[in-house]
Amino acid sequence: MKNILITGGAGFIGSHVVRLFVNTYPNYNIFNLDALTYAGNLENITDIADASNYTFIKGDIKDIGFINSLFQKHQFDRVIHLAAESHVDRSITNPNAFIETNVLGTANLLNAFRDLWLGNFDDKLFYHVSTDEVYGSLGKTGLFVETTPYDPQSPYAASKAASDHIVRSFGNTYQMPFVISNCSNNYGANQFPEKLIPLFIHNIKNNKPLPVYGDGNYTRDWLYVEDHAKAIDLIFHKGKVTETYNIGGFNEWTNLNLIHLLCEQLDKKLDQPKGTAAKLITYVKDRAGHDRRYAIDATKLSEELGWKPSVTFEEGLSKTVDWYLENSVWLNNVTSGTYKKYYKKMYG
Ligand code: NAD
Ligand code: TYD
Repeated sequence: MKNILITGGAGFIGSHVVRLFVNTYPNYNIFNLDALTYAGNLENITDIADASNYTFIKGDIKDIGFINSLFQKHQFDRVIHLAAESHVDRSITNPNAFIETNVLGTANLLNAFRDLWLGNFDDKLFYHVSTDEVYGSLGKTGLFVETTPYDPQSPYAASKAASDHIVRSFGNTYQMPFVISNCSNNYGANQFPEKLIPLFIHNIKNNKPLPVYGDGNYTRDWLYVEDHAKAIDLIFHKGKVTETYNIGGFNEWTNLNLIHLLCEQLDKKLDQPKGTAAKLITYVKDRAGHDRRYAIDATKLSEELGWKPSVTFEEGLSKTVDWYLENSVWLNNVTSGTYKKYYKKMYG
């Protein structure tokens, strides 16, 4: 039996990773550590809550004493670290929360892992889950490769870049086995409705304005969350130690093109006249320091490990819309209370 710690497993991507590991690997003990911030939600993983190879631990990676004793108690052989503050807009209003969790929290986990295994790292691994935003913003052409120099532009991206550097420094200094993956924008079930796709689905459902930042011609490279989880599984088992893998589906969309596709799908699924949802598009003030374009070159992952996405964007988006339409209880629960205050502050 291996003891595997997954951090942030009650969040969007983490919940898909935890589910995949609990269901696929009955011989692993999966420990899910999550502080249950506004973005963490145990309702994301009710289906595996009673699995015999699964334990949930509520706790904060910022709490160094707690983290050290947790590692000593459970002797984690391997870590998959996803816990983070993850929303760019929130990093603009409160950068310190990002530095505390993403930088110091990651350092706490690294220190605890090093203290536990230093001198015998055989078959141990610290897998750090990161983002393509560390590479900065692209012009009209070009793609991010694993060797693209870091050039983070938002406090979120800078905090993730710092954490990537600290992970590599522990590999170099203490010979700690690590692997890092940098993924493009994810979408799918269970994403908190402050990110573009779930926010816009929620607003279309409720006949509320769709706030498009700036001219709407910003480009993102979208990947279905279950394909990200499968890539993490593959890298965790087959990735080369100390390597970095970029994950992305060669799937670039300008925000406006994506929003129009989403509007068309929702018009059909809600059985309303074509063009109804698009009438809600409202141009609002741009995000400060808004990155123009992200695009990932995932050739290394596909050529070395044979990974490829399982769904087209149209299919993945349609499944995502269906999930949000079918899970109104989940959506109502997460959009009550503190989220309402955040929404008011952002959009009035
Ligand atoms: P999320 O915000 O949905 O979930 C983050 C989870 O971490 C939540 O469950 C939250 O409760 C938990 N958490 C936050 N602070 C914590 C703390 N101090 N201690 C313990 N737990 C804490 O984020 P996500 O979109 O699922 O992203 C997960 C990871 O993947 C992050 O590291 C993010 O940088 C990375 N990533 C995200 C995307 C994306 O498009 N969402 C793309 C590439 C990489
Ligand atoms: P987001 O989902 O926040 O992801 P990221 O900033 O990490 O790429 O935003 C995706 C794109 O959508 C980004 O260019 C900002 C834009 N956007 C809007 O135009 N309006 C919104 O209300 C939000 C949340 C995002």
